[in-house]
Amino acid sequence: MEILFNPADLIDRAMRKAALEAGLSAESFDPVVRPADPRFGDYQVNGVLPYAKKAGKNPREVATALLESAVAGNLLDPALMEWSIAGPGFINFTLTPRFSLQWLHRFVSEDDLKSGAGSRLKDRVMVVDYSSPNTAKEMHVGHIRSTVIGECLSRLLSFAGATVTRDNHIGDWGTQFGMLIWAIKRKGYDLESADPDTAVAELEALYKEGHAAYKESTEQATEIREELVKLQNGDAENTRIWNSITEVSWKSFDHIYSQLGIKFDVVLGESFYRDKVDRIYEELEKTGLSEESDGAIVVFHPEHKRFAKQPFLIRKSDGASNYATTDLASVLYRVEEMKADGMLYVVDSRQADHFQQLFLTVEKWFKTAGRVIPQMEHVSFGSVLGENGKPIKTKEGGSVKLKELLAEAVSRSAAIVREKNPDLSAEEIAEVARVVGLGAIRYADLSQNRTSDYLFSWEKMLGFEGNTAPYLLYAVARIHSIFRKAGIEESATFESATDFQTNEERALSRKLLAFPSTIDLVLADLRPHILCTYLFELAGVFSSFYNANKVIVEEEDVRARRLLLCARTLTIMETGLHLLGLETLQRM
Ligand code: ARG
Repeated sequence: MEILFNPADLIDRAMRKAALEAGLSAESFDPVVRPADPRFGDYQVNGVLPYAKKAGKNPREVATALLESAVAGNLLDPALMEWSIAGPGFINFTLTPRFSLQWLHRFVSEDDLKSGAGSRLKDRVMVVDYSSPNTAKEMHVGHIRSTVIGECLSRLLSFAGATVTRDNHIGDWGTQFGMLIWAIKRKGYDLESADPDTAVAELEALYKEGHAAYKESTEQATEIREELVKLQNGDAENTRIWNSITEVSWKSFDHIYSQLGIKFDVVLGESFYRDKVDRIYEELEKTGLSEESDGAIVVFHPEHKRFAKQPFLIRKSDGASNYATTDLASVLYRVEEMKADGMLYVVDSRQADHFQQLFLTVEKWFKTAGRVIPQMEHVSFGSVLGENGKPIKTKEGGSVKLKELLAEAVSRSAAIVREKNPDLSAEEIAEVARVVGLGAIRYADLSQNRTSDYLFSWEKMLGFEGNTAPYLLYAVARIHSIFRKAGIEESATFESATDFQTNEERALSRKLLAFPSTIDLVLADLRPHILCTYLFELAGVFSSFYNANKVIVEEEDVRARRLLLCARTLTIMETGLHLLGLETLQRM
């Protein structure tokens, strides 16, 4: 038997072949291998029941025939797994310690795991649309979720073999630029020589002034509208100002991204699509999807409860395109130019209607036009709440700037690290604090089911106990120190390792082998917290093992197999944390 990344695939293959050989019709027999409740084994095949029901057969007899055919065809190796029929006709599989040993010898490094997982989404081209802040505004706490969830999903997709384009769909076009440019000119604000550190905050203030002026008098409103029209018509001066706005904004965004280790492949903001919207109007009209309503162009979805009446506005009555038009144009661009099979929109749940309407519109439009409909998912998420249970704000009631939040995370964790480990040098403290602080912010976010709101708490996220980044990073550093103290390389081959024997050894090897199924679950649901929970549990199982089973013992085979478990726990913990976007430490 070849050892595959996900042992479930192995069982799946064997069962499909066995079904064929037993004369069960392949189309109607779907084995469906699931990770089982550990009391019943590691995996469960539960396709027998629906098949037997349809075929009017006795499920236990079908299961027996299936297993007999698998055994006769040498498809299952009893040295590697045990099986039994349970209940009305489930087949339970348990991997033997021998199997675990072979798997752990086969998947040694992060790269091995990646190439093992790499067949899952091979040939898929995915665009991940995330972070996507608006220019001339500082990134605030609201952007953290999209940024860290989007980055994590991008890493997971590419780990599973997909070709991923990280796309930052910045908000860099719209009526607000009329107000902003008006205020910039009025104040004589010199953007080009402005301090990039403070420029965006100043732009935010200028925008507010422009906005107030617009409301204040019709005269100013006219001037502002004229500035916008000039920009839309490519006026040199206004274009230059607009370019500088994008430039300083990007500088401040990118400062945050580089701290977080994030690199976008493309930054195609709303402005990029402004000359691509005419085709959208034409196509939607041609397919009969759009209609005129009070001078505007809208799309209704008569079959939908709400969207039968609530229009999807794609062209305003003044002829201008909007958020919806640019999103429609970007779907087309991603399909045609980037050859995307799928796109994920990591955007907060308040935009749920927008994305539902977008997806419905694209589905109908593409179907009528004879195009392949791409996978489109709104990866939505809830809000970040302050201690009072309301969306988090500063004392003054403003939004919490992301830049300040990250700085505070690092300085708070520096204080903790210094206290915990006074022997570290100042440089080491700074490095550990950076990794722990930024990791804590990220992990606190990712470890929550993304669709719920979560409570932002420094105390909790920086704690060394519970499901937190410091706890997991510490677990990793502790395993490194086991090897350091023993003077053994983590990358040793541990050839003399024998089959796992103690309960703790077996529990740990079983948990390690659940990593592939965990990756599959996370990918199916696009929910990073599943991976966090797994890593947290793995750290716990490791701890029980380490407390109960002495690793550095005289018997060479026992020592080798325990060191092997330590080494692979390390690899899987680090791989998992890196997928979440965290850096890991050798010591802390
Ligand atoms: N800039 C938007 C906002 O701040 C988010 C854009 C999300 N992406 C998209 N393709 N609509 O709300």
